[in-house]
Amino acid sequence: MSQDDNVSAEIPDWSREQVRSFWDAGPKLLRSIRRYQTAKKRGGVWAAMSARYWVIIHRFWSIVSQCEIHLHTKIGGGLRIPHPQGIILHPDVEIGVNCMIFQQVTLSGPVVMGGHVDVGAGAKLMAPLRVADHSTIGANAVVTKDVLSGQTVVGVPAKPI
Ligand SMILES: CC(C)(COP(=O)(O)OP(=O)(O)OC[C@H]1O[C@@H](n2cnc3c(N)ncnc32)[C@H](O)[C@@H]1OP(=O)(O)O)[C@@H](O)C(=O)NCCC(=O)NCCS
Repeated sequence: MSQDDNVSAEIPDWSREQVRSFWDAGPKLLRSIRRYQTAKKRGGVWAAMSARYWVIIHRFWSIVSQCEIHLHTKIGGGLRIPHPQGIILHPDVEIGVNCMIFQQVTLSGPVVMGGHVDVGAGAKLMAPLRVADHSTIGANAVVTKDVLSGQTVVGVPAKPI
């Protein structure tokens, strides 16, 4: 996992969320959240029924992946969760565009992530904190302080390298 300079921190790349196969749990879970939020914004009877349908789909993929991402979470476009197993996101987190989150990551409270932030497997981000654009959190890091733009932090507690 190394930062790709061509990824935008502002313009969402929706192709990153594309579902590639039936058991593509991450994109499927994300799609249920996107469709639920769209239905809720639309309002009306059909939208309410659609929202209920996507709640069931969300439950299914949440159980399959043992992952907790709430239906109301603010997520910028282009999030990649290639292995969603064990990802736990507090409902108050905010995620910028084109981020990537690996398995077993916990965002413990109101964490605000900028655009194009990559979070390595097993990392824990202890709120409240901000992670700025184009930064990287190393695998198994425990982040207790704000991360600056373009920084890579590793370790427990996480320090820049
Ligand atoms: C943080 C990360 C992006 C750094 O990659 P990098 O820029 O290539 O850094 P390097 O491998 O050159 O390591 C630089 C230093 O940081 C240390 N380091 C790297 N990653 C570390 C980590 N996660 N925890 C603790 N130290 C780490 C290295 O030991 C090295 O230390 P040294 O200079 O004392 O020898 C990468 O190591 C990482 O953790 N990626 C996450 C990948 C992941 O979760 N993949 C999931 C796939 S399923």
